[in-house]
Amino acid sequence: MIDLLLKNAKIFNSDNHFFGDIAISNGKIKTIGKALNIKAKRVIDAAGKIVIPGGVDIHTHLDMPFMGMVSADDFESGTLASAFGGTTTIVDFAIQQQDKSLIDALKIWQKKALSKAFIDYSFHLGITNASRHNLDQIGLLKRNGVTSVKIFLAYKNAMMLEDDEIYKVLLECKRSKILPMFHAENGHIIEERTEELLRQGKGFPKYHALSRPATVELEAIDRVISIAQLVDIPIYIVHVSTLNGAAKILDARVKGRTVLFETCPHYLLFTEKKYLDPDEGIKYVMSPPLRKEEDRRGLRNLLKQELIDVISTDHCPFYLRTQKKLGLSDFTKVPNGVGGIENRMIIMFNEIVNKLGGSIEYFVSCTATKPAKIFGLYPRKGTIQVGSDADIVVLDPGKSFTISCKRNHEKTDYTIYENYQSKISVAMVIIRGKVKIEDNCLMLAEKEGDFIKRKSSMVY
Ligand code: URP
Ligand code: ZN
Ligand code: ZN
Repeated sequence: MIDLLLKNAKIFNSDNHFFGDIAISNGKIKTIGKALNIKAKRVIDAAGKIVIPGGVDIHTHLDMPFMGMVSADDFESGTLASAFGGTTTIVDFAIQQQDKSLIDALKIWQKKALSKAFIDYSFHLGITNASRHNLDQIGLLKRNGVTSVKIFLAYKNAMMLEDDEIYKVLLECKRSKILPMFHAENGHIIEERTEELLRQGKGFPKYHALSRPATVELEAIDRVISIAQLVDIPIYIVHVSTLNGAAKILDARVKGRTVLFETCPHYLLFTEKKYLDPDEGIKYVMSPPLRKEEDRRGLRNLLKQELIDVISTDHCPFYLRTQKKLGLSDFTKVPNGVGGIENRMIIMFNEIVNKLGGSIEYFVSCTATKPAKIFGLYPRKGTIQVGSDADIVVLDPGKSFTISCKRNHEKTDYTIYENYQSKISVAMVIIRGKVKIEDNCLMLAEKEGDFIKRKSSMVY
């Protein structure tokens, strides 16, 4: 017997759309067809709705110790918020403590997530110590279902690796078909500029952006592309914030390199002007920082041309009152990061489809299918096809709503997307065949999210 039959659906994948019915059993998509005449335990009429694969957010930081604090959402609240917003799979960053091994980090993050997640999850490994022992563990990651690592060129004395260490990590990644991801900002220069600014008494949040200007990103992107070329390995660059940075990546592609990248909703919506507000500026302290209007406009243009591979959140929220505000007069004490896990799908639909006139297919591509393909989750995730997990989101184009911290399920006491007017809403979220969210209500309280062992990236 079929568990769930979704009828009269307008179904969008990343490369096509069609009308049909979707039959689901045992958490998987069993059949897709027109006017299916099958008995089901529950039949849902999706007429007038937009049916898409569940969102895949491959850049989250849940329960992460960072800058002396811990990010506000753990695996329970973070994945609950994800589910409400139509994201049904996340890939979070297990960050290595410098005196512990990569496998230790994986075990720590497995424990953080166990029995807490409402949606499926996986991990990248953030490598912060490239000793021989740790380099030797990179191959082990693959056997544990971790097929990507993050390398920080920023956060000197905390997570940053030097160029020779990066080179060695890339050699190991190549051997094991692991995709390296880069936080591309020059940590040495940031450190120097920060000290200069603080010496001059310039500690307010607006100086955070001045401590790490656009060139710092451009230099780091250029450098990692060169190191990757020496090793001949595909790479992925996270949270690209500048037009010049993105252009550098696109140029490398023209020259035959495989360089993939993401940006985040905040770089597409806001500019550095936010830092000028003495009360509100602190809310937007993240790394890389918000940029100039020409960057925002330039990135939106690339989005319109379907040149951005992935939109991720870099969800790393901190409370305003008890965490962010501790750095009101010294930006080095503001924990870096903002939330967004709950609002990414809705915001990007509005921005891509309604405002930029893009296709729903491209919206699906950069929020679900392409991240799933790049990070070894496809075709289990990121697509509506027979045999895939039945992670499905039903959007209601006839129901507008306003984003607010009050409505959100993220834990923080603010959202940078407060008062964002959405023309559509999430009507239903189906996770591995079960209706989890309906009309903004949690229908099943069970935390049934599982760890997903990923395959190698499809770009290898
Ligand atoms: O400000 C940010 N992005 N915080 C999270 C850590 C990172 O670099 O991704
Ligand atoms: Zn980063
Ligand atoms: Zn991040």
